[in-house]
Amino acid sequence: MAETLTAAPASSSANAKTVLEVRDLQAWYGESHILHGVNFDVKQGEVVTLLGRNGAGKTTTLKSIMGIIGKRTGSVKFEGNEIIKASSDKIAKQGIAFCPVCTENLNPDVVVMQSAKDGMRFDTSGRLNWARDRRIFV
Ligand SMILES: Nc1ncnc2c1ncn2[C@@H]1O[C@H](COP(=O)(O)OP(=O)(O)O)[C@@H](O)[C@H]1O
Ligand SMILES: [Mg+2]
Repeated sequence: MAETLTAAPASSSANAKTVLEVRDLQAWYGESHILHGVNFDVKQGEVVTLLGRNGAGKTTTLKSIMGIIGKRTGSVKFEGNEIIKASSDKIAKQGIAFCPVCTENLNPDVVVMQSAKDGMRFDTSGRLNWARDRRIFV
C-alpha cells in the first residue's frame, strides 16, 4: 500500500481537531517492505475507512499504528503525541484499540457498536469507558 489516502467526509467539520495523523508510514515484515508511505488524518467525529484488495496493506496499516509489527517508520501522532516509537502496550494505554473482526465470525444480530465494545476487551483498564470508546477505530 502506498500513496496518500484522502479522507474528507461531508460530515466532518473543517475545524474539528485531528485525533490521528499518519505521515509517510512505512512497514516491514522481515525483508518484505509492505507499506511505502501512507498518509491520512482522522478528525474528531470522523469514521475513516481503508479500502483495498486483499493484501493491499489495510491490516498492516492498523498494526503499524498500534505498534504490533516488527519494523515501522514515519510518523503517527495520536492527539498530538508521537507514538511511532512507542510499544504497543503504551499505545493502547493512550486509548487506541485495534478490533480485528473476521467476517466469518460476524454475528448479523450484533450491531457495529457492540462489536466495537467487544473489541474493547483488549483495553488495559479491563472496563468499558465511553470516554475512551469514542477514540477507537476498527
Ligand atoms: N505476518 C506476515 N508476514 C509476512 N507478510 C505478511 C504478514 N501479514 C501480511 N503480510 C503480507 O503483507 C501484505 C499486506 O497484507 P495485509 O496488510 O494483511 O493486507 P489487507 O489487510 O489489505 O488484506 C500482503 O502481501 C501479505 O501477504
Ligand atoms: Mg486485512
